Amino acid sequence: MDDSRPTPKTAFVKSYGCQMNVYDATRMEELLAAEGYGLTDAPERADLVILNTCHIREKAAEKVYSELGKLKQLKAERNAEGRDFKIAVAGCVAQAEGEEIIKRQKAVDLVFGPQTYHRLPELLKEQARTGRAVIETEFPAEDKFDALAAKSLRTKQGVAAFLTIQEGCDKFCSFCVVPYTRGSEFSRPVAQVLSEARKLADHGVVELTLLGQNVNAYRGSDAGGAPSNLARLVNELSSIDGIKRIRYMTSHPRDMTEELIEAHATNDKLMPYLHLPIQAGSDRVLKAMNRGHTAEHYIRLIERIRKAQPDMAMSGDFIVGFPGESEKDFEETLAVVRAVNYAAAYSFKYSVRPGTPAAERAQVPEEVKAERLQRLQALLVEQQQAFNRSTVGKTLPVLMEKKGRHEGQMIGRSPYLQSVHCELPESALGRIVGVQIVGTMPNSLSGQYVGESA
Ligand code: 5AD
Ligand code: SF4
Repeated sequence: MDDSRPTPKTAFVKSYGCQMNVYDATRMEELLAAEGYGLTDAPERADLVILNTCHIREKAAEKVYSELGKLKQLKAERNAEGRDFKIAVAGCVAQAEGEEIIKRQKAVDLVFGPQTYHRLPELLKEQARTGRAVIETEFPAEDKFDALAAKSLRTKQGVAAFLTIQEGCDKFCSFCVVPYTRGSEFSRPVAQVLSEARKLADHGVVELTLLGQNVNAYRGSDAGGAPSNLARLVNELSSIDGIKRIRYMTSHPRDMTEELIEAHATNDKLMPYLHLPIQAGSDRVLKAMNRGHTAEHYIRLIERIRKAQPDMAMSGDFIVGFPGESEKDFEETLAVVRAVNYAAAYSFKYSVRPGTPAAERAQVPEEVKAERLQRLQALLVEQQQAFNRSTVGKTLPVLMEKKGRHEGQMIGRSPYLQSVHCELPESALGRIVGVQIVGTMPNSLSGQYVGESA
């Protein structure tokens, strides 16, 4: 037997927070697979656990430390058996808290931010060589995506994939950590995005969701070196045969250009679903949030979007209990919700983020925040259910994404991002089929296959 052969290693990457973290986690898995790691979805079976963390709200950040406590235990058990076990913290908590993480949890071996994960193989080697914790949270000068493109081999892909095209944010909303954790706005060049999209299509991807913290501020360079924009990029991506559906998120109301609205009217591959956060409905609060627009501007904008694409389903994000928010301000948020009529939405209690301007201001009491959140969510749930009911009886084109829990059942997505259950054989995977919606469940729809979609 050849004893010099290294034992195969296994890694577990756990992602918290937004879709961009999901994308980053997939890329980390690819890097690890290229290094000979096997992948698992159970920490007990892993030799390396990476927590890809989220810093957006306090709760999300605190989750990391409780998870690390459990991993420390696992590490102690492994080490007692004479086996190695490495713990890494990646993502936005790593970026924001850096060394603090090692201070709070000494069992951590590696801390690296969202801009440095392309260096993961080197960082692991450095840690193994020195035996000391490695912290890498600088914003590097080289392009992470260039480095990834050179190395990447897509390991596993579903039929719907994320593709990061833009990262970071220059808007500095006064509540938000993103400009600090993800850095300033950066757009990947058009050619790089097209090449990654073609690779995904070759691997059977049918639906692309273009990701960015401000995805509609996309300014990636075109072939001539001039800045392009999201509308042009979407139109170029639609010429890839295998790609049948395109989505993008998250957008800022200030970057919703005429050209992009027009693309919704003319490009059939662009799905009629738009995540466009307003955060709050009172102009006073919007100003204090540094959003750079009024409620009126947002509502008019949605009117223009719906004129271009009458079928558009809207989604958004809301924060209640922002510092200084009065009952009257909050009621203006409810008024915006009523005016827009959302198909889906995410709502949160304001969470103090150290280092952001709003953290220093007079806070709304916790019980007031909780009460407002409840009222807002009741309204949003009502709207979401009404939207789901409005699709009953209709035949929708549904992209079949995975097997359902029951034998002979598949789960797919409607154009409006609703999850749809349908009796179909597994051979339907990756096909867009016509499904008549027959019923609604709390978080999904049920439907019957009526034929192949046009
Ligand atoms: N508190 C609560 N919610 C926040 N978000 C961002 N920062 C905070 C915060 N400090 C929400 C916003 C954003 C979404 C991703 O998270 O609604 O759109
Ligand atoms: Fe955060 Fe505002 Fe930038 Fe969105 S636009 S990432 S909420 S700072």
